[in-house]
Amino acid sequence: MKDEIIRQTECYVSSVLGEDSTGHDWFHVERVRKNALHICKEEQAGDRFIIEMAALLHDIPDEKLNESAESGQQKLESFLESVTLTHKEKVFIKQIIGTISYKGGNDCELASIEAQIVQDADRLDAIGAIGIARAFAYGGKKGQQIYNPNIQVREEMSLEEYRKGKSTSLHHFYEKLLKLQNLLNTETARKMAESRQKMMETFLEQFFQEWNGDSK
Ligand code: ADP
Ligand code: NI
Repeated sequence: MKDEIIRQTECYVSSVLGEDSTGHDWFHVERVRKNALHICKEEQAGDRFIIEMAALLHDIPDEKLNESAESGQQKLESFLESVTLTHKEKVFIKQIIGTISYKGGNDCELASIEAQIVQDADRLDAIGAIGIARAFAYGGKKGQQIYNPNIQVREEMSLEEYRKGKSTSLHHFYEKLLKLQNLLNTETARKMAESRQKMMETFLEQFFQEWNGDSK
């Protein structure tokens, strides 16, 4: 039964996100699921089925991929109504997805180990070599510059400000990506983040060497 629900969910998510080119495509979802199940196994913690469902569905209500936060939430709710889950499972999955965004998770302790694991899995896919690729894919799609030295690095940027060209993809590393390592919840994710963090640091160092014209 649970296998069947997972299959239905895979089918639904790949049909909704399959064509996305802002870094939220089906392959992102598959990587997040794989990372989440790996962390669940290593930590021997959390409900595996709930973690897998929340990982598969985590980007469905994302405001950036929907007309509004409300219509995104509605999409998630309609799908959950169409599969055979208990009320408790539906509430749990919605709660996890609602609390794992960078904003939501930044200033509050996550209520469950399941939420902590899915959040870690999503954050791991935003750093390292794949994180670098996703940042420039997202920025290109949104019309952001690669880098502009005349723009100051700021702590927080709203989506509107990005859209108005007040930041660049390279700035996004300083505004968010380099900070994610310290925000991870589990030891397993922290270990997985080490080489990814080094990759970003090496990339940025080389980027500025080349930008300044003094590369070896
Ligand atoms: P997630 O998939 O973890 O929910 P987001 O929706 O915040 O992450 O972003 C999706 C991808 O796009 C991530 O890899 C993120 O780093 C990248 N991204 C988001 N905002 C920007 C931005 N302003 N500039 C460059 N990359 C961005
Ligand atoms: Ni995601």
